[in-house]
Amino acid sequence: MRMTGNTILITGGGSGIGRALAEAFHSLGNKVIISGRRRERLDAAIDANPGMVAVELDVTDPAAILTTAAKLIADHPALNVVINNAGIMLIDDATGPVDEDKLVTTVTTNLGGPIRVTAALLDHLKQQPDPVIVNITSVLGFVPLVATAVYSATKAALHSYTLSQRYLLRAAGVNVIEIAPPWVRTELLNSTEEERAMPLDAFIAEAMAKLATDADEILVGDAVAMRANPGAGEQAFIGVFNDLVASGPPLG
Ligand SMILES: NC(=O)c1ccc[n+]([C@@H]2O[C@H](COP(=O)([O-])OP(=O)(O)OC[C@H]3O[C@@H](n4cnc5c(N)ncnc54)[C@H](OP(=O)(O)O)[C@@H]3O)[C@@H](O)[C@H]2O)c1
Repeated sequence: MRMTGNTILITGGGSGIGRALAEAFHSLGNKVIISGRRRERLDAAIDANPGMVAVELDVTDPAAILTTAAKLIADHPALNVVINNAGIMLIDDATGPVDEDKLVTTVTTNLGGPIRVTAALLDHLKQQPDPVIVNITSVLGFVPLVATAVYSATKAALHSYTLSQRYLLRAAGVNVIEIAPPWVRTELLNSTEEERAMPLDAFIAEAMAKLATDADEILVGDAVAMRANPGAGEQAFIGVFNDLVASGPPLG
């Protein structure tokens, strides 16, 4: 994708991968708008990056998405890139009773969020030069982590949805990109100090370098091998992967 001259909305831009991507694009001179629920996180990010702006938006709220999208378009008519990064990851139990709240919140945030945010902005994006949709999925969409089965399933679903949108929007000139991060040191699943996870700055450096190419699937570090897995041996691969994680320190 073109790395300069964009006006970019990044959901979940107040922390972790979203904030780091926001800062990377901001430092290249792009206009960056971050969103999220926690005002203090948004303020900390924009205070540290003069010129960056922030809007409060809960991506589980369909009405708020429509209202905020309309305001964003009015305030930032050059908006041409949306990065659907906001997400939550909760430990669950795919063998036990359904935790309805966890199920609905995870699906509504991780799958409904990107679907609704993109839909609210799509007509506008189509009218801009070089429109781009970036969906942040996960390697766990290709190889599920069984301790977070619902999360993994939402990321597989978002991968699938991204494939559909890329096909459907090609004729309209909208570039649909997927970033499937490996385990990265962020607050997700309390992983800021996690030795098994990739340092955030190293992940961002490699992701930005790959975004600057024509690639429509951005795979960094371990994500390359995990992406290559699905096939006839998928279930065995998932067994090996999950045995390895389970043999390490407890998650979360
Ligand atoms: N870190 C990893 O190992 C890893 C690996 C693969 C994929 N990912 C994906 O990368 C993305 C970013 O995660 P991260 O690792 O950077 O963790 P993070 O620091 O916890 O970031 C998640 C962001 O999403 C926002 N968010 C959550 N629910 C929201 C909602 N309902 N409405 C609006 N914003 C919401 C949070 O902000 P508020 O709480 O302020 O709303 C937060 O800024 C996620 O989609 C995650 O699934 C991460």
